[in-house]
Amino acid sequence: MKINKLLVGLMTSVTLVAGAAQAVELSVVSGDTGNGLAFLEEQLAKFEEQTGHTVTVVPMPSSTTDQFGQYRLWLAAGNADIDVYTTDVIWAPQLADQFLDLTEAAADVIDQHFPSIIESQTVNGKLVAIPAYTDAPALFYRTDLLEKYGKEVPTTWAELKATAQEIMDGERADGNADMWGFVFQGNAYEGLTCNALEWVKSYGGGQIVEADGTISINNEQAVAALEEIKTFIGTISPEGNLAYMEEESRGVWQLGNAAFMRNWPYAYALGQGDDSAVKDKFDVAPLPAGEGPDARSAATLGGWNYAVSKYSQNPDAAIELALFLGSAEIQKERAINQSNLPTIEALYDDADVLAAAPFMGNWKEIFQNAVPRPSAPTQENYNEVSSLFWSAVHNTLSGNGSAAENLEVLEADLDELLN
Ligand code: GLC
Repeated sequence: MKINKLLVGLMTSVTLVAGAAQAVELSVVSGDTGNGLAFLEEQLAKFEEQTGHTVTVVPMPSSTTDQFGQYRLWLAAGNADIDVYTTDVIWAPQLADQFLDLTEAAADVIDQHFPSIIESQTVNGKLVAIPAYTDAPALFYRTDLLEKYGKEVPTTWAELKATAQEIMDGERADGNADMWGFVFQGNAYEGLTCNALEWVKSYGGGQIVEADGTISINNEQAVAALEEIKTFIGTISPEGNLAYMEEESRGVWQLGNAAFMRNWPYAYALGQGDDSAVKDKFDVAPLPAGEGPDARSAATLGGWNYAVSKYSQNPDAAIELALFLGSAEIQKERAINQSNLPTIEALYDDADVLAAAPFMGNWKEIFQNAVPRPSAPTQENYNEVSSLFWSAVHNTLSGNGSAAENLEVLEADLDELLN
């Protein structure tokens, strides 16, 4: 026994030496949403075993806006303590200079990913981050309640409002005083930009700033969209929804207290958990369309990636870690356990993935038609553009100025910032 153990020990060290990779200590920073950090820790344990490196996770709040603010400071200060950053799809143009070019390191795997996602992480020919998963939101709806009230899945916002109100009134009359019709992300942060871009686009009101740089947000369809959603607050959606981010909406939903929720796919696996009040009582559909000639269902494109800091003192091992976390093997597990959408095309035909998250078959098309936020046309100004937009929307929903007034001011502010 003893000798065997010794032998195994010896062999392990030999492999490490033969692999030429000296064991190093790495750190990866990541936001905390759902059980994402627990999943990351599990994957890192495998990486540590395979490579001999050790990895520390530096946890961050779940708000992407808060993460961005902190990372920008660290990177500007040349922080060498963080090797790998978990990055939002919108950050690539703004942080590109602070990350290593992964083009060469990823050469063998790049073709596995959807080209549009690789493109979103490529800035002036430099691959800034390895995609880990993509995101396109869904309308989560209660199958049991739609059946109880004899309703169809709503396909327009007006239908959603009517159905949500009827279910909410009925459930309250039946004794659930905490019941709401619809929850979403209404806090003043990046998540509201995603939600509001969907409303505006679904009314045919454009994408805030178009791909060619035109500032398009001050238009009648955008006004109609915001005015419609404003009527949700205090009726089918709680006043408190104006302070919700992803996790707060999921909290209300998963306790069984909402008929509908707008959220990202991560909420699917959690909603199916054993501790969830909505387990086996919900499904997902595309978000509703607005009204007008160009009305459509619109989903904002999200997603997360791994980037390597140019200040890392162990760049080779850090690159190895980023590649590992974006690999087909880990993406498959992430799809099955976390219901995160893979960026590797083949996984959409994987039987295990489809068994765990049946909706993914349909979501490939939805994310491919998803609406990008204007981070490419606005480059280093994107964060400011988004913050001006979500503030205008938050003010409108709070009753602080009409949509028409707020979008007019927004247009002027954007014009000053960008032109
Ligand atoms: C999700 C998306 C991300 C987006 C964020 C907003 O995490 O993947 O792209 O910025 O939500 O809250």
